[in-house]
Amino acid sequence: MPPLDLRPYRAYFPSLSQEIDGKAVVYFDNPGGTQVASQVIDAMVAYFRAANANTGGAFLTSHRTGEVIANARSAMADFLHAGGPHEIVFGPNMTTLTFAFSRAIGKTLREGDEIVVTVLDHDANVAPWLALQERGVVIRTVDVHPENITLDMEDMRSKINERTKLVAVGYASNASGTINDVATIIGWAHKVGALAWIDAVQLAPHGPIDVQQLDADFLVCSSYKFFGPHLGIVYGKAEHLDNFPAYKVRPASNLAPDRWETGTLNHEGLAGLVGVIDYLAMIGREQSALYSHAFRDASGESLYTGRQRDLKVAMQAMMDYERELSAYLLAGLREIRGIQVYGITDPRQLAQRVPTVICSIAGHTPRELAELLAASAIFAWDGNYYALGIMQRLGLEERGGALRLGMAHYNTTIEIDRLLTCLEQLD
Ligand SMILES: Cc1ncc(COP(=O)(O)O)c(C=O)c1O
Repeated sequence: MPPLDLRPYRAYFPSLSQEIDGKAVVYFDNPGGTQVASQVIDAMVAYFRAANANTGGAFLTSHRTGEVIANARSAMADFLHAGGPHEIVFGPNMTTLTFAFSRAIGKTLREGDEIVVTVLDHDANVAPWLALQERGVVIRTVDVHPENITLDMEDMRSKINERTKLVAVGYASNASGTINDVATIIGWAHKVGALAWIDAVQLAPHGPIDVQQLDADFLVCSSYKFFGPHLGIVYGKAEHLDNFPAYKVRPASNLAPDRWETGTLNHEGLAGLVGVIDYLAMIGREQSALYSHAFRDASGESLYTGRQRDLKVAMQAMMDYERELSAYLLAGLREIRGIQVYGITDPRQLAQRVPTVICSIAGHTPRELAELLAASAIFAWDGNYYALGIMQRLGLEERGGALRLGMAHYNTTIEIDRLLTCLEQLD
């Protein structure tokens, strides 16, 4: 089997050829938002040229807009392996959607009911649940093992009990890149009759997701983190989308998923989302030979059909390629004087992380490091990236957080070498 090489797909990202003072830009800011594929740009332009309208009208552009929304729903249903398009809800971003759902779910909770959150999660999967404390809901926060920033599963298990109504947990951390064992956590939640709310914002750009296999009640992601436009997406089991009380305007549909979509959607963004799925499905088709034995059950039957399978192959190919990038980056960082990397660094455990790495370098603030890199056209984030809990837990919050190096499938080892050269020159 030839080594997996995803570099040819760089050609689909026009922004990757941007230069500053003759230096090609290196995008290591991906966990904050990825670059977009040309299929996305083309689809958004096409929407504005020929389909721009509101929904439900008797005329052509309105019909086309309806088709765009339907196509985006079925594209996302395939991407997440939902039971169907009716289980997909769109909104402006993950945070707004999570607040909307927490308010709706909160309406059904009583004083003394418990919700479990984690110290590792982005605040968008914490603050919406904390807001329910005003209803008397008790919030339990699960800790991490600070030495490698993995969730303390014993602590998780001990905090899920008969009073637990919902467990909110991230699939992958936007800080340390840790992939959490959400399947096990969902199982524990269901054992006590609790719901599981999975924040997959940082897993979606890096690996395959199957909401049915996970048995997730809800799973959220944002398409600007996986090569598309600024949009949030909720997968919800049909029974939940039908039954929880949605806050909505009276003339809007009472049927799910529409009842959750307040106001006019970002139609051009939904057109772009179909473009992302086209891009990913193309990768899946092109890499399918390498994965002919993957995604099959014990008897060899394929678990997915058509585009579902192409999307799973694409995301698995990215995961495999990016694991090599992680190994290369972590090995290089080890040689930098005064560096501390937080999270999983053991080369044997790279399957438990996405290629997002946070670090500090003695004598330099994270902002200074980000500025130094920016001066060489290397874009990377500093700060807490709203992963407030873990930054406080590690004592980094008062120190400006950490430098975050976040890669995607279009990054290369040559770009990592440029980064390492910059960091090696620090005194
Ligand atoms: C893990 C995680 N969850 C949630 C969010 C919030 O997503 P959005 O910007 O779509 O509200 C982010 C954004 O960085 C994130 O990384």
